[in-house]
Amino acid sequence: MLILGIETSCDETAAALVEDGIYEISSVVASSQELHKKTGGVVPEVAARKQVEFMVPAIAETLKKARVSAADIDALAVTVGPGLIGSLFVGVEAAKALAMAWDKPLIPVNHLVGHIYAAFIGSDAPALPAVVLIVSGGHTDLVLMRGHGALEYLGGTVDDAAGEAFDKTARLLGLGAYLGGAALSRKAQEVFPANSSRCPRLPRPMLDQATFDFSFSGLKTAVKRLVETGRYPVAVVAREFEDAVVDVLAAKTMRAAKGLGVKSVIVGGGVAANSHLRNRLRAEVGTQGFTLHIPPPRLCTDNAVVIASAAYFNQTQKKLSEIQPNPSLVIAD
Ligand code: KG4
Ligand code: ZN
Repeated sequence: MLILGIETSCDETAAALVEDGIYEISSVVASSQELHKKTGGVVPEVAARKQVEFMVPAIAETLKKARVSAADIDALAVTVGPGLIGSLFVGVEAAKALAMAWDKPLIPVNHLVGHIYAAFIGSDAPALPAVVLIVSGGHTDLVLMRGHGALEYLGGTVDDAAGEAFDKTARLLGLGAYLGGAALSRKAQEVFPANSSRCPRLPRPMLDQATFDFSFSGLKTAVKRLVETGRYPVAVVAREFEDAVVDVLAAKTMRAAKGLGVKSVIVGGGVAANSHLRNRLRAEVGTQGFTLHIPPPRLCTDNAVVIASAAYFNQTQKKLSEIQPNPSLVIAD
């Protein structure tokens, strides 16, 4: 079954073709990120205008790369939320128009569920049930995946998402005005634990609480206080911040996996591209009896491959008129 996926939830305009939910045939991701660097954050109106500009070329390029025409496609899939309403409308309306013109079914996809399916691309599908950690710029959620379409929310951030904390802290440290998470992580790598100079230990928020909730906004404030002393090199503070976030994410994910007796741990979302988090989880999973699935970084950040995959495994039947964008969709909706 060949699905054309479309993703426009934020500042990426993406289209992809995926066969049977696991084989990536072609993928195109256009981004308006460079524009948002100038304003230090996404201006929704600007993002939506760029979605309009990129949408048709992204779809055309995806089909061209795969040498596929409308007749070969079995269904379309589109992100309906969560995300920016103006951006979502562009993808949803494009997908509806194509579905109508081509007379194909259209499968609505929750963006957060899409992030989970990055782990299903390729041959090594996670065994279920699985504990899923979704860590992105907008979300930090722990989810129990009993099966396809059977997701149970375990906990999530009560304030900032992990990626948001990375980005705000990067800005504080002068490591990038917009989406500085990856830059902060690179800076932190300049400090090796064995020979590192240290700064005062930052808090590990909610680490000792039995819930699967997270809180990251206090960490950013604690970093601000450290920076204001002017006593610690940027790399040292970046390292301590990353250690603190990774400690909490890894500990709660492992606690959930052990406690619930799952077969796999899946990590998705932009922050899953973080090499420190990847290495920590790999080390901790070790011989625990479950397998760890962290997709390659290009599938962790926003793309349409995962949307087409999620659609294949969750084929909801809906009329076109029932498919509407929902900017505040949550994981278990
Ligand atoms: O999933 P995503 O592409 O977009 C959202 O749906 O939010 O995630 C983007 C987030 C940003 O906050 C970005 O700074 C963060 O993922 N990110 C990273 C790394 N790469 C991307 N955070 C930490 N370390 C990284 N290597
Ligand atoms: Zn995302």
